[in-house]
Amino acid sequence: MKALVLSGGAGTRLRPFSYSMPKQLIPIVNKPVLEYALENIVALGVTEIAVIVGDWAPQIAEVLGDGSRFGARITYVHQERPLGLAHCVALARPFLGDDDFVMYLGDNMLPQGIGGIAEQFRTRRPDAQVVVSKVPDPRAFGVAELAPDGSVMALTEKPQQPRSDLALIGVYFFTAAIHRAVAAIDPSARGELEITDAIQWLVSHGFDVRAGEYDGYWKDTGQADDVLECNRRLLGELTARIDGEVDGTSEIIGPVVIEAGARVLRSRIVGPVVIGAGSVVEDSRIGPDVSIADDCVLRATQLADSIVMTGASITQVPGLHGSLIGRSASVGPSDHAQAHHRLVVGDHTRVEVAA
Ligand code: DAU
Repeated sequence: MKALVLSGGAGTRLRPFSYSMPKQLIPIVNKPVLEYALENIVALGVTEIAVIVGDWAPQIAEVLGDGSRFGARITYVHQERPLGLAHCVALARPFLGDDDFVMYLGDNMLPQGIGGIAEQFRTRRPDAQVVVSKVPDPRAFGVAELAPDGSVMALTEKPQQPRSDLALIGVYFFTAAIHRAVAAIDPSARGELEITDAIQWLVSHGFDVRAGEYDGYWKDTGQADDVLECNRRLLGELTARIDGEVDGTSEIIGPVVIEAGARVLRSRIVGPVVIGAGSVVEDSRIGPDVSIADDCVLRATQLADSIVMTGASITQVPGLHGSLIGRSASVGPSDHAQAHHRLVVGDHTRVEVAA
């Protein structure tokens, strides 16, 4: 089996981050979402992996490299524009040949892995197998209607009136039959070649299409609140480890990871919290549910339920929570003593201030 990881796309719902980085590289507990995907794939014993990349190809290649770090071999396939998930399958056809493959959306998090659902596919080997999960509001997803025996009857992409509560998770198992379907479909109303339409084509033409229900935790990290929820969830499994420096006046409570080269001075850290290498936390109250990446500086700040990315600094901000702070961003008081605010924020940035 081979793997196809989709890491192109526009990521407009994660603006402003997607102006400067691919959404698949957003860190959850200090590790990019895409790395979790790679690890899950390699855990299946699949090592031949194609990664679809768009404009952010250099940043993605910098993180994943040739795949040897994961025990895999990565082939990058460039997609000029996000023309749809089925378009990605067509682009990767020379790499995929007629092999079975798992297609994995690079912004989906499944921290418990995909071993169980891969086993279902390998045992029965239908022409295609999708994975579904019950969600309260399926309108933002592909939606599946299933027969009682688990075969797929119909699929609809982001329906206004969903006919079931089963959302398609971003992991699909295909045989070479999918290539016939991809070649047969037309772009949807939004101009994309939809994988749901290709799978629906298989259903309508009598192919065996099955669905497995995923019972683990799953999150599409397409929006800021999803990213934070996922971060909380994974932090919940943190095992305490202090390799960095903590001074005698600081207090560390609960599961806290302080990486080597990080320094905590005169602060109170309430886990789960992770503090990356080279970061400095001074006179602050951090936690719970905070991931601070490498080389950040936090001074006289109170921060909970947040992600701080590499090289960011936060100074003298009390009561900061539910925040995503981008790489090398700086938050703090102005150099001038006046009690007014000065903002230099990018397009589509959201700043919420205390009333
Ligand atoms: O997360 C699950 C959902 O993912 C499914 O329920 C939907 O059926 C499926 O269409 C997809 O919906 P999204 O709207 O979330 O797809 P998104 O545009 O975010 O793309 C998913 C991943 O694929 C993301 O990592 C970007 C990448 N991508 C997307 C497109 C459209 C590409 O690499 N190329 C593309 O052309």
